[in-house]
Amino acid sequence: SPGLVVVVGSLNVDSTSYVGAFPEPGETIRSHGFQVALGGKGSNQAVAAHVVGASVDLVARLGADAAGDFAVATLERFGLPTAAIGRAADAPTGVAQITVADSGENTIIVTSGANLAVTPAVVDAERERIASAALVLTQGELPVATIDRVAELAAGAGVRFVLNLAPPAPVAAATLASSDPLVLNEHEARAVGIGTDAADASLDAWRDAAASAVGRIARSIVVTLGGSGAVAASVDGSWTAPAPAVDAVDTTGAGDGFTGALAAFLAEGRPLEEALRIAVAAGALAVQARGTVDSYASRAAVLRTAGADGRARE
Ligand code: RIB
Ligand code: NA
Repeated sequence: SPGLVVVVGSLNVDSTSYVGAFPEPGETIRSHGFQVALGGKGSNQAVAAHVVGASVDLVARLGADAAGDFAVATLERFGLPTAAIGRAADAPTGVAQITVADSGENTIIVTSGANLAVTPAVVDAERERIASAALVLTQGELPVATIDRVAELAAGAGVRFVLNLAPPAPVAAATLASSDPLVLNEHEARAVGIGTDAADASLDAWRDAAASAVGRIARSIVVTLGGSGAVAASVDGSWTAPAPAVDAVDTTGAGDGFTGALAAFLAEGRPLEEALRIAVAAGALAVQARGTVDSYASRAAVLRTAGADGRARE
């Protein structure tokens, strides 16, 4: 369908402890809150694209366990289709142990489990779904061969391919080259050879670093810079999008909120510069509430914050 976003992605169940400050090695501390919620970068980005108005299909694998049942029920509550989500017989649903400190920072430990069952063969079986998409999106949490296969199938079908290489993974150069855009935070950017000399580089410096990598590393590039905002570059130009100053409550999954919104608005046909600005607004709203998927703001709120127009989707 026009505007369809297919996410071939990871799905985890997140167990999050809220603490004053991170424990030191060997230290036992008390949390002041605990939450179990849907997570995984693929699933988070699918929900984020959906809540800002995209039609989304998520290709993922769960375990045949209670965590998997919880994940399916949560996706259904959000109104996402689950037809392309299968159950691995011999692996548990992926889990993430997350700690969020009062500063808003987090640490995350991921155990992949059934996410490793998203093999190249699974991607091949979804060939028609991918070919029918306006845009296909994947992340660094899946096996490298799977990411490479998604890129190949998208290129073969003439479908826009967006790669959020989080965490960094040794994908093929051709996979990076076809990414439009390649979405990275500053650590991930440095891991693929996009960077600035200064440790605390400005948005302008990152914009120039992204621009110098267009065509050399990826077709187009987006670098997210946390509370500072984000930059983008393509053959059409390069842009900075400063973030509004906000009080960060929980940054977990804010990058996924950004990437899902970016994909949704690109799939609508908006230019990269405009989708970037809207995605920065989506990320800024997500850090102001606890949780990942439960902190993603609606299309109306995101467009209002971005100062963007809410013209009807074509
Ligand atoms: O980006 C945040 C996500 O990373 C969490 O939901 C966790 O599951 C890990 O995949
Ligand atoms: Na949040």
